[in-house]
Amino acid sequence: MNLRLAELLDFFWEDYSSLTPAAARIHALLAARGEKVVNDHIAFRTYDLDPIRLESLAAVFEALGYRPTGDYRFEEKKLRARSFAHPGPDAPKVFISELLTGEFSPWLQETAAGLAAQVPASRAATLELFTLLPSWDPVPYATYQRLLAESEYAGWVAAFGIRVNHFTVLFNALSTFPSLSAFNDWLVAEGFPLNTSGGTVKGTPGELLEQSSILASRVERAFSKGEKRVVPSCYYEFARRYPDPATGELYAGFIAKSADKIFESTDSQPGQ
Ligand code: NI
Repeated sequence: MNLRLAELLDFFWEDYSSLTPAAARIHALLAARGEKVVNDHIAFRTYDLDPIRLESLAAVFEALGYRPTGDYRFEEKKLRARSFAHPGPDAPKVFISELLTGEFSPWLQETAAGLAAQVPASRAATLELFTLLPSWDPVPYATYQRLLAESEYAGWVAAFGIRVNHFTVLFNALSTFPSLSAFNDWLVAEGFPLNTSGGTVKGTPGELLEQSSILASRVERAFSKGEKRVVPSCYYEFARRYPDPATGELYAGFIAKSADKIFESTDSQPGQ
């Protein structure tokens, strides 16, 4: 399979929007206002295990012309991440994180290794990491819950496999909202609950990046033995970038402490 980048992005959007009804609705509402929706970045989650580790996923994008732009570490969540950008117009940035499984319990390590082992080694660094879904057999719901208890991120990857965790609307390309905060107010008025961890707007103009996100959609997912449960899937993120005074170009990086809070958009919410 040799999909070009645009086709690959279409594939990602189809898969992601099918798992994220809220994103599909927001996209449609923005289009109805006459807005053009531009993707700032797409993000992936994985485990630090062959053949699905961060570098293996990144190699697919690097072969398509992407280059690394930053390295990030999230101590509390035990994650590392890298960002990538493409020189071509309209290509979204890519943000890939991976769970540092060695920092968790032996049980979590064995469970994650059992999932990664279901992915043939021959898929390392190939498009098939993304396009052959599901990545592995459904896990028991009890395993998912036990993973969540140690790491929300570990549970999400077990339940969803290697696929887009979120798309991100570039606020700068919108024309009918005066600020990201006003945009957030509109989302709330339209009935989309926001991630409030660290405030509804993460980051400041001084940091050159403001971000917000809705809470993940909740979808029915099949676990092992056909058990179906409603769980958080993916969320939609929004980013406003400011010009870097040094270069005059829009800031192209990410702010680790903001991303740390954005990760929590897939947490199960109280009472749900
Ligand atoms: Ni993001």
